[in-house]
Amino acid sequence: MTQVAAGAAAGAAGAAGPLTFAAALDAAADTLRRAGIPAPRLEARLLLCHVVDVGMATVIGHPERRLDAAGRARLETLVLERARRRPLAQILGMREFWSLPIGVTSDVLVPRPESETLVEAVLERVGDRGRPTRVLDLGTGSGCLLLALLSELPAATGIGVDRSRAALRVARDNAVALGLVGRARFVQGDWTGPLRARFDIIVANPPYVPTAVLATLEPEVARYEPHQALDGGADGLAAYRALIPGLAAILCTGAVVALEVGAGQAAAVAALLRDHGLADSAVRNDLAGVARCVIASDGQPPGA
Ligand SMILES: C[S@@+](CC[C@H](N)C(=O)[O-])C[C@H]1O[C@@H](n2cnc3c(N)ncnc32)[C@H](O)[C@@H]1O
Repeated sequence: MTQVAAGAAAGAAGAAGPLTFAAALDAAADTLRRAGIPAPRLEARLLLCHVVDVGMATVIGHPERRLDAAGRARLETLVLERARRRPLAQILGMREFWSLPIGVTSDVLVPRPESETLVEAVLERVGDRGRPTRVLDLGTGSGCLLLALLSELPAATGIGVDRSRAALRVARDNAVALGLVGRARFVQGDWTGPLRARFDIIVANPPYVPTAVLATLEPEVARYEPHQALDGGADGLAAYRALIPGLAAILCTGAVVALEVGAGQAAAVAALLRDHGLADSAVRNDLAGVARCVIASDGQPPGA
C-alpha cells in the first residue's frame, strides 16, 4: 500500500462520526501534503467548501462547525481522488476562466489562465464591441474561449467546433448555464472542415504538446486530461499544419485570428500563417512571459 493510500485508509477507518471543520481540514491537508499536492491546505479548504456547499469565508471563519458523518465520508473520498492526482477542477466540476464559471469533466481540457491571453488579444483588436461579430472557436473543448468572447461582445454570435462529441456536450451545457446558448452553436468536425460561413474572429487553442513529452507531464495532465486535447504529434505542430490551410476560405475582410501556442512554437506558427496568406502577425506573451498567442490579420480594419 502506498503512503497516500495508507493515510487515506487510516482516515477512512475512523470516519464514523462527525468532525469539526478544523479537524477535517487538518486530516485532508495532511493526506494531500503526503501525496505531493503543492497547496494542500488551500485545496483541502476548496474541497470542504464543495462538500458542505459554503463559501471560503465560512470554512476559514468557523473552524468549530461540524461536518456530519456523510459529509466526512464524502470529503475523504474526494481527498483520496485528489491524492491520486485527479485535477482539482475535475473533482469540483468547474474552473473559473475569464471570471466565468466553466463546467469541466474528464472529456475536456481544464481551462488554463494562459489561454486568457487569446481573449485579451482579440478584445484589444475589436473596435466597437457592440457590433454584430461572427466568432469561431476551433477545438472548443469546454467552450471557454468562445463563451468568454461572447460574454464581452453582446451582439456577437459564435460557433465552437470540436472533434469530440463529449466535449461539445460540455461546451453546450456551459453555454446554457451562462445564458449564452442563444448566440452559440456547437458543431462536430475536423477543424475548418464543417464550415461554410465566414468569421470576423477566429480563435484556436489546438493540441500542441509533442507526443514524446506527454508522458513526462505532471500526473494531473498525463493521466487525467484527454490526450486528443494535448497531443500535437511528433513536433507539437501537427494541428497547426492541419487547420491553418483552411483559414483563408472562412475569413471576413479584416478578420482577426488568434492561435495559442506552446513555449518556443510562436515563430513556426507565424511562418505557417504567412505561408497561407496571413502575413501580418504579432506575438503576445502570457503572464509568465512565454510567447503564448500568435495573432494574425490581413491588415484591414475588422468589418471593412
Ligand atoms: C487544447 S484543447 C483546447 C480546449 C479549449 N479551447 C481551451 O482552450 O481550453 C484542444 C481541443 O481540440 C480538439 N481537437 C483535437 N483535434 C481536433 C480536430 N482535428 N478537429 C477539431 N477539434 C479537435 C480537442 O478535442 C480539444 O477539445
